[in-house]
Amino acid sequence: MPQEHRLILKYADQPGYTPDIDCYLRHDGYEMLRKVFALHPKDLPDGKKMSPQEQVRDEVMKSGLRGRGGAGFSCGLKWSFVDRKSGKPIYLICNADESEPGTFKDRPIIHKDPHQLIEGMILSCWANDVKLAYIYIRGEFAQGAKILNRALEEAREKNFLGKSILRSGYDLDLWVHRGAGAYICGEETGLIESLEGKRAYPRIKPPYFPAVLGL
Ligand SMILES: Cc1cc2nc3c(=O)[nH]c(=O)nc-3n(C[C@H](O)[C@H](O)[C@H](O)COP(=O)(O)O)c2cc1C
Repeated sequence: MPQEHRLILKYADQPGYTPDIDCYLRHDGYEMLRKVFALHPKDLPDGKKMSPQEQVRDEVMKSGLRGRGGAGFSCGLKWSFVDRKSGKPIYLICNADESEPGTFKDRPIIHKDPHQLIEGMILSCWANDVKLAYIYIRGEFAQGAKILNRALEEAREKNFLGKSILRSGYDLDLWVHRGAGAYICGEETGLIESLEGKRAYPRIKPPYFPAVLGL
C-alpha cells in the first residue's frame, strides 16, 4: 500500500492531539519562531549583509513553497513584489474564505491545528515587516472563527502576539474577520474590498497583484 506523507497535518489526526496551545507546544510548536528571532545578519561574499528577515524570505523563495489558493503561485515571488521602501503599511491577509463547493483545504488546519496557521502567519509577518494581519474566514465557518479566536487569545497570553513578541522588539496584531457569505469574497481583490467594509467587487486589473496594491 502506498503511504501518505503528511506534512501540514502531520500531527492533526494523531490520537490525543488537540487544537490548544499546550498540545502544540508539546509538539515543538512556536520553536521555528524562536529560531528565526535568534538569527543574526549574514555576511555575503560581496561584503554586504543579509538581514534575518531577508534570510527567511530567501529561504521561502528557494524552498519553492507555493500558494494553496488554486494557482499554486510561488510564495517567495509574491513576497518579492512587496514595496518595502514606500513607507506605507504592509498587511498580511490569510484567505480562509474557502467557498469553493467541496473544497476543504483550510478547514482541517483551522479546526485541528490552528496554532500552526498562526505561527506561520507570525513568521510571514515578521519576514515582511507586517504589523497588522487578518484571517478572512468564510462567514459560515462560525466554529472555525471561534477556534481561531480562542487560539489567538492563547497566543496573546503567551506573548507570541502583541507587543515585543518574545522580547524581540517586534509587535504584531492578528485578527479574525468573518466573511460576508459570498463565493466572490474569496477572490483576493474582492476579499480586500470586503475587509475594507465594501461590497466584494473584484478590483480592475492592473495592478494584478494585491502584493503591489493591497488593503
Ligand atoms: C471567484 C473566486 C473565488 C476564490 N475563492 C478563493 C477561496 O475561497 N480561497 C482561496 O484561497 N482562494 C480563492 N480564490 C483565489 C484567490 O483570488 C487568490 O488567488 C488566492 O487567495 C491566492 O492564494 P495563495 O497565496 O495561497 O496562492 C478565488 C478566486 C476566484 C476568482
